Amino acid sequence: MMADIPLDLIRIEFAKIFSAVPEHIVRAPGRVNLIGEHTDYNDGFVLPIAIDRETRIAARRRTDRRVRMVALDFGGATSEMSLDAITRDKEQPWSNYIRGVAWMLEQRGWHLPGAEMVIRGNVPIGAGLSSSAALQMCAALTFCVLGGFDLDRVTLAQICQKADNEFVGIQSGIMDQFISALARADHALLIDCRHLSYESVPLPRGARIVVCDTMKRRGLVDSEYNARRAECEQAVRLLAVNLGKPIRALRDVSPDELARCADILPPTVARRARHVVTENARVLDAVAAARRGDVVTLGALMDASHASLRDDYAVSCPELEAMVEIARKQPGCWGARLTGAGFGGCTVNLVEEDAVPAFIANVAREYAARTGRTPQIYPCQATAGASEL
Ligand code: GLA
Repeated sequence: MMADIPLDLIRIEFAKIFSAVPEHIVRAPGRVNLIGEHTDYNDGFVLPIAIDRETRIAARRRTDRRVRMVALDFGGATSEMSLDAITRDKEQPWSNYIRGVAWMLEQRGWHLPGAEMVIRGNVPIGAGLSSSAALQMCAALTFCVLGGFDLDRVTLAQICQKADNEFVGIQSGIMDQFISALARADHALLIDCRHLSYESVPLPRGARIVVCDTMKRRGLVDSEYNARRAECEQAVRLLAVNLGKPIRALRDVSPDELARCADILPPTVARRARHVVTENARVLDAVAAARRGDVVTLGALMDASHASLRDDYAVSCPELEAMVEIARKQPGCWGARLTGAGFGGCTVNLVEEDAVPAFIANVAREYAARTGRTPQIYPCQATAGASEL
């Protein structure tokens, strides 16, 4: 449950809870991915933006090694730990994102100071907009600021991803943490998830990014995500034997090479691989289209990405299908696709600026009539990555 406290009141809430003024306020944004889905853990390409929804932490250093965390979004729930024995908290699972980051930083040899923290965010939880990566990144930067450590942003993203994998137990890729750390305002970020290199891509003029939340929730800790990862790894093992060239990931396979060898793969595995291989190509095409302001091609690539995620990767669901279908009928909608891991959550839409108000009203009405769910639909501003306020 979101407590009804505006983000900027976090300072006052901190003073009430800890009877002191916070020394730092740090923010980290959620994200929406424009194209490049399920490619990050295949060493591929992604093109996300950071959105104007974020997590904030107000913090103050303690002289001992205890960390006290209070989450305003969970009714002021509290979790407390010693940095000398960091364990998971089953009662307050939100705190595990902060615990994991602290654990990983300590593992890397950073000696963290104790802290008092108040956390508040407005990234919808469980909607596929990376509220957890925002919390991780916010916590990581907070520990850095409190401890006076200077870690570069790519390392911070790697630390948060490792914390996700090894402490929280989710096998996610690096996209969400990376964009939360490194986003540039008004730009999307092309991330090469193998080399961890990136370039910012200006968003086409006259186009808005609109997020449509189906309000169908699905957790990521879900077996389906890990099952897809395993199928991709199986494809790599089989293709490595047959392609006649060394490959490490599906990133190394071209659409033509896959088409030549597809029949050596079990049919389901072949479809999963085809999604990844064609999606990587679509990301690079989308970057070229965005750079020349070609919204029609960019939108068509988003539509093609959705079809591939639905038919080959099998991560769509009836609510996402309804949302995409209704969106595409609206005037000024250039493209619509599911975004994030899938199975619920949000779609991302490329919409002509002037058409946005009618788009929102019509899609909300039609989606509610068809599914009985009240969606949340809003245009997003591409914001900068995590920072101290
Ligand atoms: C989730 C994961 C990301 C990425 C997407 C799918 O958001 O956290 O790493 O794999 O799913 O593109």
